[in-house]
Amino acid sequence: MADPTQYIDDLLDQYPPKPEYLIGLLQDIQEHQGHISYDSMLLASEHTKVPLTQAYSVATFYQSFRLDPPGEHEIKVCLGTACHLNGGQQLVDGLSRKLKIEPGETTEDMMFTLSTVNCVGACAIAPVAVVDEKYHPGASMRKLEKEMKKVTELSPDKIKGEPNA
Ligand code: FES
Repeated sequence: MADPTQYIDDLLDQYPPKPEYLIGLLQDIQEHQGHISYDSMLLASEHTKVPLTQAYSVATFYQSFRLDPPGEHEIKVCLGTACHLNGGQQLVDGLSRKLKIEPGETTEDMMFTLSTVNCVGACAIAPVAVVDEKYHPGASMRKLEKEMKKVTELSPDKIKGEPNA
């Protein structure tokens, strides 16, 4: 496996050391790492000459930036108008209860991350949930629980026979 610090060094070389490049740099870091670690944030802040606290403010302002590592599977529930009117919030509440996390959080076993999104462009099939990039039209708790069970059973830990409840 490639050295992750080498990747960051290579990435920094591609960005001029100016504040206006902070967001692009953070996007690239997240794309590679799945989240923006403290060390990466520090390097990005130093490189673009944006104070660390300001860099954090930028990252927390944009919902698309993730500061914690994501779980193995991601469940996104759409809360755009059509989905909201068709039970999107009830799905969020149900999933929060089942997984014992709030949107934006990851389960303790790192299996699931729950998040909410605005319109995913499939309003005609609302409410919509997306599990690992797979769209679930007319989503219900029953359907999502079934999907969660399916992806959990296919996860590498499960295949190795290790518990992951
Ligand atoms: S509002 Fe959910 S897909 Fe458009």
